Amino acid sequence: MKDISEILTEILEKAFEKAGYDPSFSRVGISNRPDLCEYQCNGAMAAAKQYHKAPLAIAEDVAAQVKQAAGSAEVIGDIAVAPPGFININVSPEYLASHLTAISAEPALGVKQIGKGKKYIFDYGGPNVAKPLHIGHLRSAIIGEALKRIYRFCGYEVIGDVHLGDWGLQMGLIIEETRRRMPDLCYFDSDYSDQYPSEAPFTISDLEEIYPTASARSKEDAEFAAAAHEATAKLQYGEPGYRALFEHIIRISVADLKKNYANLDVDFDLWKGESDVQKYIPDMIDRLIDDGFAHESEGALVIDVAQPGDAKELPPCLIRKSDGASLYATTDLATLLERERDYSPDGIVYIVDKRQGMHFQQVFRAAKKSGIAREDTLLYFLGFGTMNGKDGKPFKTREGGVMRLEQLIADINEAVYERIMESSPYTDPDEARKNAALIGLAAIKYGDLSNQPTKDYIFDLERFVSFEGNTGPYILYTIVRINSILKKYAADGGSPAERILPAGSASEKTLQLLLSRMSEALEGACTEYAPNRVCQYIYEISNAFNSFYHETKILAEADENKKTGYIALLKLTERVLSQCINLLGFEAPERM
Ligand code: ARG
Repeated sequence: MKDISEILTEILEKAFEKAGYDPSFSRVGISNRPDLCEYQCNGAMAAAKQYHKAPLAIAEDVAAQVKQAAGSAEVIGDIAVAPPGFININVSPEYLASHLTAISAEPALGVKQIGKGKKYIFDYGGPNVAKPLHIGHLRSAIIGEALKRIYRFCGYEVIGDVHLGDWGLQMGLIIEETRRRMPDLCYFDSDYSDQYPSEAPFTISDLEEIYPTASARSKEDAEFAAAAHEATAKLQYGEPGYRALFEHIIRISVADLKKNYANLDVDFDLWKGESDVQKYIPDMIDRLIDDGFAHESEGALVIDVAQPGDAKELPPCLIRKSDGASLYATTDLATLLERERDYSPDGIVYIVDKRQGMHFQQVFRAAKKSGIAREDTLLYFLGFGTMNGKDGKPFKTREGGVMRLEQLIADINEAVYERIMESSPYTDPDEARKNAALIGLAAIKYGDLSNQPTKDYIFDLERFVSFEGNTGPYILYTIVRINSILKKYAADGGSPAERILPAGSASEKTLQLLLSRMSEALEGACTEYAPNRVCQYIYEISNAFNSFYHETKILAEADENKKTGYIALLKLTERVLSQCINLLGFEAPERM
C-alpha cells in the first residue's frame, strides 16, 4: 500500500511535467512545520537553479497544474505556495478517512514491505558465558531485539544471533579455580578413560561465585594467572577433561541466559558463540598468509587496514599474537566467514557498545579486503552509548559495584508495584505483581529506546516509571484507556465499527494524520537504525489521542453514525500503538 507522501508525490510528478519541469523535483514529504501545513514539497527551490527562474514562480506553475488535474481534488484539500518557493499541501479529510479505513483492513497496517527479499543477520546480546548479565548487556539486548522486530515487520528476513563470548581466558580461570578446589574430579585425571559424568560439578550460582573469585585471584597471584593461561591453552588444544568441563559451563550458562532473556522478552534464532568458529581459524590464517593479506610484524600476524584519507590512523588488525594465540578480531573474522558461507546475507548488523568501534572498523576492512566478506555485503556497526546514573557516570549499585541485570529489574518492578498499589489498589496480589512486571519492562525498554542508540543516557528510575510524560507507562496507560472505552462500547451492544469518518475537529485530524504515517516511521527506524523513531511516533499518537479524547464525547455521542466512526478510529489507534510496542518489545496490561 502506498503512503500518502507517495500518492502526493505522484500527483506532483505529473504537475511538474505538465508545467514543463523535470518531474524528479516533485518529492513530497511530511511537513516540518505542522502549524502551516501537513505535507510539503521543496522541489521548486532545487528546480530554480536548473531553470534559472524564481522558485516562487515555479511553485506557482506547479500548484496551478495540480488544481487543474483530474482527480487531484479528491486527495488534496488545499494547496498553497509560500516564499521562497514552498508548496504546502493539506490532505482532504474525506480522502484521509478512506485511506485509514483501507489501512484498518490490512494486517500490516499499511506498512510497506521495504525489506522483501533481503536477508540480515543481527549480532546482539553478546553475553559472556559464566559471567552474570549486567546492565552493559542490557542495551544490546533491548536495541537489537527492537530492531530485529521492526525489520521483520518491514518484510526483511532477520536472523538474530546471540554470539556468546564463550572462548578465552574466562574459561581457563574457571577450570583452574575448579581444579584447585576439587583436584580429585575425573576431569583433571589424565588417565581417565571412561565417559565423563553428565551432571556438572557446579551450579550456576557456584559459577557466578567461581568466576569473580578466580578473576580477582589472577590479578594478585602471578602463579595462578599463569596456570589459568595454561588451562585456557589446554582447552583450546582439546584436552578431553577440560573440554568436558567446558561443555558443562556452556550448558549451565546458556540455560540461565535463556531464562534471563525470556524475562526481558528477548529471543534469539541462533545460540552460536565464539567457540563454534575456532575450527575455521587455522585454514583461514593459512589462506590469509598465502594470499598476501596477512604479514608478520614483531612476531605477530597482522592485516593492514589503514586507508589513504583516514582522519585518524587505523592500526593493523591483529589476528595472531606472538605466542600463537588468536584474538577477538580473529574470531570475528572466522564468524564472518561462517555467516557468509551459511547464510550469504545482504547485511550483518552488530549491536555492540560504541567503545568497540575501532575493533569493528578493523574487522570490516580486513574482511572486505581479503574477500572473507563479499564486496556487497553490508557490514554495519551500531555502537550504542553508555547507560549512566544521575551523576552522569556509568550506572552502579548504591555500593558502587557493577549492577546486575536481575537486581535492576527487581528494583524497577518494586517501584512500579508501589506506584500502582497507591493509585488503584489491587485485590489480587498476583495480578498486581504481574502488571508491575509488564509496566516495569515497558519503563526500562522505553526509557532506553526513546534515546538515539548512539547517545549516552541517564537511567532515571522515577522518570521512567512515571505515568506522565514521554515514558513507557504513559503509552501503556493510553492503550489501557482506549481498550476500556472499546470494552464498554462492546458491552453496551455497540455495532461493529469499521469505517473511519472524515475528521470533524483539528485534534481528530491530527490523530488521523499520525495514524496514516506508520509506514514512514518504521521505514525511518530501519534506514537510520533508530527505534527511537518508533518511540517518538507513538508518543505523538498518544498525545494526539489524549487531546482528542479530552475534547470529544465518544460513548456519549448521540449521533450513532458519528459514534461508530469514532470507535473505528479508536480501534485503529489501539492497533497501531499495540503493534508498535510489540515491535519495541513490550506489551500492555489489562488495566493500570
Ligand atoms: N561478548 C562481547 C562483549 O561482552 C560482545 C560481542 C559482540 N559481538 C561480536 N561479534 N563481537 O564485549
